[in-house]
Amino acid sequence: MKIREYITFDDVAIVPGKAVIEPSDVDLTSKFSKNIEVYIPVVSSPMDTVTEWRLALALARLGSIGVIHRNMSIENQVLNIKLVKSSPQSVWFEVLKAREEEPIESITFRMDEAGIGSAILFSGSLVSGIIVKSGLDQDYWYSKASSLISLLREYKPTPLLDEDGRLRVAAAISPFDERRVKALEEAGVDALVVDVAHAHNVNVISSVARIVKNTSVDVIVGNIGTKSAVLDYLSKADGIAGFRVGIGSGSICLTAEVTGAFAPTLTAVLEAREALEELGAHGKIPLIADGGFRNVGDIAKALIAGASTAMTGRLLAGAEETPGTKVRVGGKVYKQYRGMASKGSIERRYAEDRYSKPSKGIEEGIEGLVPYRGSVISIVAELVAGLKAALGYAGAWNIESAWRGELARITSAGREEAKPHDMII
Ligand code: XMP
Repeated sequence: MKIREYITFDDVAIVPGKAVIEPSDVDLTSKFSKNIEVYIPVVSSPMDTVTEWRLALALARLGSIGVIHRNMSIENQVLNIKLVKSSPQSVWFEVLKAREEEPIESITFRMDEAGIGSAILFSGSLVSGIIVKSGLDQDYWYSKASSLISLLREYKPTPLLDEDGRLRVAAAISPFDERRVKALEEAGVDALVVDVAHAHNVNVISSVARIVKNTSVDVIVGNIGTKSAVLDYLSKADGIAGFRVGIGSGSICLTAEVTGAFAPTLTAVLEAREALEELGAHGKIPLIADGGFRNVGDIAKALIAGASTAMTGRLLAGAEETPGTKVRVGGKVYKQYRGMASKGSIERRYAEDRYSKPSKGIEEGIEGLVPYRGSVISIVAELVAGLKAALGYAGAWNIESAWRGELARITSAGREEAKPHDMII
């Protein structure tokens, strides 16, 4: 038996490449699925502490897409889709405008009333400050020189719209729930994401083949972790619009620990890319690298490896717009974040959807807290700035050119040297 070798984010570094443009000019436009372009290559995980309509709406306004989780009844998921599809496009709808003279208490009262996380203060027609809700109830940060506004100016969000000018949104589905598929399609969903922990399964493949045949929206399949899974799918199901790759890398994943099965996101991308390249389909059928991203560098490595977008729960879970509960611990504010195969999520699934199928009977996810980060606008703005810098180092000017970038294996000595060292901090 030949033992394979897995490579993950910390095993590689981005090889600096010849830059032909400045990093700020790097174009991050990419493909979420065959027919859906995104302007930011970072999308949200379908998890019940991450993506419901509020986060999906904010992401679409910023130029990306959210995948509404399926841990809810069909009716509720349909409602989530409709709320995004019927909302106005502008990101400024999430920001309250106020005059500088208005007392802070009055502004924060209006913010609470409208359920809005940030307010911009104007002195005449000029922006003079910003108020950002920092956590529970009466906590607000006030800043005169707003980094949020300068970041927003920097990358000028372009909303992600369908042909009718409505914001785009995706939804997670089970491969065995045709009623849900039909309802979501009727509600105007833009893409369906088959959401299975191990999609390389003959029953899932035949169900997916049927769904793809009977639906007019893009169908993305996951999760898979090997070259042979891509080849199997493409030989048995016609018209798949994307793959979600990586098994067990997520920050809340217990799969690898509990079952021993693991396909690190970076290796899964490399394998899937190899399969697609053999078929001449790399770039035509987009790869979503899913889970395990701790920072912009990890995302850039996955893109260079061949992914079109990166899916993250962890990096977005601290946002104001997620459904996760806020908690205060020792003076700091956190949001709840949990795996979809954690005890809490599994319990909610049965409570909310009596049609859900029993799972394997083991917990494959953990529940915990992540620091509260305020509006997702600033999280995304930071990711965009960081990704442009990272791809700039790789010598890339867009996602396709990033695929021609290089990754190098690093030694543990190299990894140590790459960190700050020999300093008293
Ligand atoms: P991050 O690293 O962003 O990863 O937290 C999010 C991705 O993890 C997957 N996911 C799970 N995997 N058990 C797992 O093994 C779980 O309970 C679980 N919940 C989510 C999923 O692919 C998600 O996008």
